[in-house]
Amino acid sequence: MQYLQLATVPVDQNDDNLILLVEPTTLDQLDAVLQPTEMIFLRQSVAKGVRAFFFPQANNAVFVRVLEPASDVAPGLEEARLDATKLLCELKNYHVESAIVRTFCPEERALAFLEGLMLGSYQFVNYFSDPSKKSKQLTSLRWAEAHVPQTAVNELNSLVQAVFMTRDMVNEPHSHFDALKLADVALEAGKVFGFSVEVLGKEKIEELKMGGLLAVNQASTIPPQFCILEWRPESPRNKKPVVLIGKGVVYDTGGLSLKSPDGMENMKCDMAGAAAVIGTLSAIAQSNMPIHVIGLIPATDNKVGDRALSPGDVIRMYSGTTVEVVNTDAEGRLILADAMHYAKQFEPDLVLDLATLTGAAVRALGSQAICYMGTADAKVKRALETSGWNTYERLVELPLWKEYGDELKSSIADLKNMGNGPAGMITAGKFLEHFADYPWLHLDIAGSAYLRAANGYRPKEGTGVGVRLLFDFLKKWGAEE
Ligand code: BES
Ligand code: MN
Ligand code: MN
Repeated sequence: MQYLQLATVPVDQNDDNLILLVEPTTLDQLDAVLQPTEMIFLRQSVAKGVRAFFFPQANNAVFVRVLEPASDVAPGLEEARLDATKLLCELKNYHVESAIVRTFCPEERALAFLEGLMLGSYQFVNYFSDPSKKSKQLTSLRWAEAHVPQTAVNELNSLVQAVFMTRDMVNEPHSHFDALKLADVALEAGKVFGFSVEVLGKEKIEELKMGGLLAVNQASTIPPQFCILEWRPESPRNKKPVVLIGKGVVYDTGGLSLKSPDGMENMKCDMAGAAAVIGTLSAIAQSNMPIHVIGLIPATDNKVGDRALSPGDVIRMYSGTTVEVVNTDAEGRLILADAMHYAKQFEPDLVLDLATLTGAAVRALGSQAICYMGTADAKVKRALETSGWNTYERLVELPLWKEYGDELKSSIADLKNMGNGPAGMITAGKFLEHFADYPWLHLDIAGSAYLRAANGYRPKEGTGVGVRLLFDFLKKWGAEE
């Protein structure tokens, strides 16, 4: 798949549609680009509060966007991304598929605007019989800039590519994307971007006695897969790795605790955590980030059948812990727990898991935020929250008080796999906490990984959430303050 990439060209290049990004204070700089009559109109209209302009030319067109100067950094960057998304609608109206951007604003905002243009131009057209007939988006984007921040441009390109890959994986229907396919995609990404990937098949998983993963897979015709991804640069800043774990339920029917048709409809998205881990490894490897990172992905579907795990069953997890499975729809935590136990051998500095884990997380925060919780120290939590603001993949922390854990007491096993109160995202976290002996954070992305309607530069369906967040977070991991 070919994805949109940002190229750079000299400032005097203008053989294409032009997008001019200014702030009210830098309007004068357009004198050299626009006609005097256009400038008069522009000045008068900006004074009245107009912020979007279109000037047709013979073959090309000029689009001008005027950004308000921002007082707060993060919201200012988001405003630039969202403004770019609005412009994309306009470009579509005029069938504009390629453009040169010139920016007359601080570099950070220019990059955010470009990021918004790129992220918003995503389309998933794999299953139309004639994809070329589907509405076209930008296919060529060039930035005409005198002082190109090359590292930032390269980073933007790798990130956009990784986010698009992640969205693609989530959007692939289960009919075309099972656990074997997920492992193939991980292997392929490893080859392309230069990180190593090992895939454990069913026999190995049985030999290791990963009881959680095997139990969820019991009714499936497709074997479970356990993927180990590793990016180990030559001289990493961290001595011990950061481990990222992604929930890879390629389809969640709920199992015998079957979901309603409405609840099941979008359950191809239940591997969004796994997709984000593959995407993040791809982006950090491509930008040669000096951080040692390991990705772990337990992958399976959650199906029904005469061999299916049954509510009331007791299973023995990879760690040895026994679990009474009171609800087979609480399957994500069973496979994640095995991966969390596997992570112990690396003696990691930090383990982060990403999972579309609970409906309770969706009900609590909707699609605008990630519910997170964990045992890592306050400094790490603040750093992650800051990355959340930088990327607008924002997080809200929830408590892991021991009282919530009381809901998981079982009368016949060490743990139950579900609590009985309404704080389902917290009891899920309490369940996972049981399998962590290292600093750990759990990110419940059920709300923000998959949208029923497009929102800004986040398209309908897979959003790719997690990739930009973790990239920003890891970039600063272990760096001097
Ligand atoms: N995959 C679902 C959670 C989910 C819900 C993801 C909505 C995305 C959107 C998860 O496996 C699940 O079924 N959770 C149950 C747990 C319950 C049975 C304890 C839930 O949240 O209802
Ligand atoms: Mn489920
Ligand atoms: Mn699930």
